[in-house]
Amino acid sequence: MTNKTDNIYAAAIDKQSFSFDGQVAEVFPDMIQRSVPGYDQILKNTAKFAERFVTANSHCYDLGCSLGASSLAMSAGIGVNGVKIIGVDNSEAMLARCHHHIDAFKHRTQIELQCGDILACEIENASMVVLNFTLQFIAQPDRAQLLKKIYQGMNPGAVLLLSEKICFENEQDNALMIDLHHQFKRENGYSELEISQKRSLLENVLVPDTLVQHTDRLAAAGFSRSHCWLQQYNFVSIFAIK
Ligand SMILES: C[S@@+](CC[C@H](N)C(=O)[O-])C[C@H]1O[C@@H](n2cnc3c(N)ncnc32)[C@H](O)[C@@H]1O
Repeated sequence: MTNKTDNIYAAAIDKQSFSFDGQVAEVFPDMIQRSVPGYDQILKNTAKFAERFVTANSHCYDLGCSLGASSLAMSAGIGVNGVKIIGVDNSEAMLARCHHHIDAFKHRTQIELQCGDILACEIENASMVVLNFTLQFIAQPDRAQLLKKIYQGMNPGAVLLLSEKICFENEQDNALMIDLHHQFKRENGYSELEISQKRSLLENVLVPDTLVQHTDRLAAAGFSRSHCWLQQYNFVSIFAIK
């Protein structure tokens, strides 16, 4: 993937809110690497989950696929035939770049890209579904229905990988995790201005839930069990089994 440095917020900007536009798509690999603790581990393990869960002649979904990093990770782990990975994103700028990334990297499994809303896309015959840092951008009242739809489109024994930024009920703990996350960003070269501008732009756009809200919602959708398998500060990855 290209690694153009993210300096979108280095100078004062007059944008009202964050969106996955062309400017973000251009620097996205650098932005997500330097902003999301554990992102590399999540991608590496996406391949390992795919190796264990993806079954022959089934579908895999990468919902909110951005530049296709999770699709390519799934593909790297899949060792069975007849699988199709379907990547869905509603940002045209992201999908245009995603096509180039997918073409540029070797992958054994067919990858189909769909431009559209994940709330409207069809899920069927799925042995693995990935929602890496996407549910947090879906309006909170729509999240339960989306998970139900995903559950219904999954085969018995299939896995959902859900990675999210979370919040904590206890205000002190929440502030500590936010502070440690900001320190992580500073250590990755972001300035105070960049951190604070991005934070205000994401407010009301990225709305985190608590870990308990996530696990309760997964149980309500029908998942037989779910576990947080990775946590770094206020970033988690959960696997849930149908
Ligand atoms: C943080 S990025 C996801 C990162 C990606 N999954 C990865 O692992 O590299 C969130 C993505 O979700 C997409 N998105 C947000 N809401 C969406 C929706 N309702 N339907 C489809 N895509 C959506 C955005 O355009 C963006 O590309």
